[in-house]
Amino acid sequence: MPKITEIEDLKRIYKRRVPKMFYDYAETGSWTEQTFRDNCSDFDEIRLRQRIAVDMDNRTTKAKMVGQDYAMPVALAPVGLCGMQSADGEIKAARAAEKFGVPFTLSTLSICSIEDIASHTSAPFWFQVYTLRDDDFMQRLFARAKDAKCSALVITVDLQIMGQRHKDIKNGLSAPPKLTPSSILNLATKVGWGLEMLQTKRRFFGNVVGHAKGVSDPGSLASWTAEAFDPSLDWERIREFRRRWDGPVILKGILDPEDAKMALDVGADAIVVSNHGGRQLDGALSSIRMLPQIMDAVGDRIEVHLDSGIRSGQDVLKALALGAKGTMIGRAFVYGLGAMGEAGVTRALEVIHKELDTTMALCGERDVANLGRHNLLLPEDFATRWR
Ligand code: GLV
Repeated sequence: MPKITEIEDLKRIYKRRVPKMFYDYAETGSWTEQTFRDNCSDFDEIRLRQRIAVDMDNRTTKAKMVGQDYAMPVALAPVGLCGMQSADGEIKAARAAEKFGVPFTLSTLSICSIEDIASHTSAPFWFQVYTLRDDDFMQRLFARAKDAKCSALVITVDLQIMGQRHKDIKNGLSAPPKLTPSSILNLATKVGWGLEMLQTKRRFFGNVVGHAKGVSDPGSLASWTAEAFDPSLDWERIREFRRRWDGPVILKGILDPEDAKMALDVGADAIVVSNHGGRQLDGALSSIRMLPQIMDAVGDRIEVHLDSGIRSGQDVLKALALGAKGTMIGRAFVYGLGAMGEAGVTRALEVIHKELDTTMALCGERDVANLGRHNLLLPEDFATRWR
């Protein structure tokens, strides 16, 4: 195995191995990608406070998220099309998460189905739903997730309509890839990926194809979102989804203190401060920059998690020190998955865990639960520059 010491190493291998269409799908933001870039560069603005001569024995990164015990406060985020990054990708990622002791979140837009994950893992996983027009289909998704013993429902609330990602349109993104002269040329250079893909039958949206009605091109993410997603979503409907699920509900895609208060009001157990990895509203502020305001608004009354921009254990630590109780990684594990399947996801988790643990120790802390603002050095106007 090549020496993998950081998430960037996995990304380099991933880029070589996986068809351009799927690499681009993961590695994109919407429109100008300003928010996509800010998500990472704003983490870099935060510096850490070094402390010495503190007993660093017996450290722990163990944490609870929505009442469940995990090896570290890092969940695998719901990411669409993982089974196109690597054959049976969602099964591989779920297995790596289970062995590591962190939650795996299955996306509705996965290639492997809810039932596939349930039959290949034994740890309960989290299931993500979008807010869709077809209520029958939504009800059946909830029931399937219940049958699969999913231990939390993650409702994505920032994708009533899809932000435009130029690359996906230019590449004609679909699952499985449509054969055009340029996709054939690119696929011809991805032999390892192709040989693995030929050995699986899971090449379509497993939760959707054969389950949802009236989708004209079920292989196309763009037409599925345009036809199936509910642009008329309101808080009443979110409240209704909350009522339907008798376990923890996590609302993902909250970026404003007012919406965080509404999430609390509808009875969510947790929120994920997120701008969908910069893939929705281009021009929105980064999640990490919005976190302090959201913590001030609701942090003592609801569990706050954060995603968008996390590529290292230092980033995880910064989010925790600003008050988050959990984090999600998306691209950071997808790079590992595309690079080397299950082993790559495990490696991504190991890298992030080691970075988190070592950074915590060098900050003079032994337990992630004790991280706080005292561990950080922030520019004066970090949370107030944009008003
Ligand atoms: C789906 O949620 C996407 O961001 O592509």
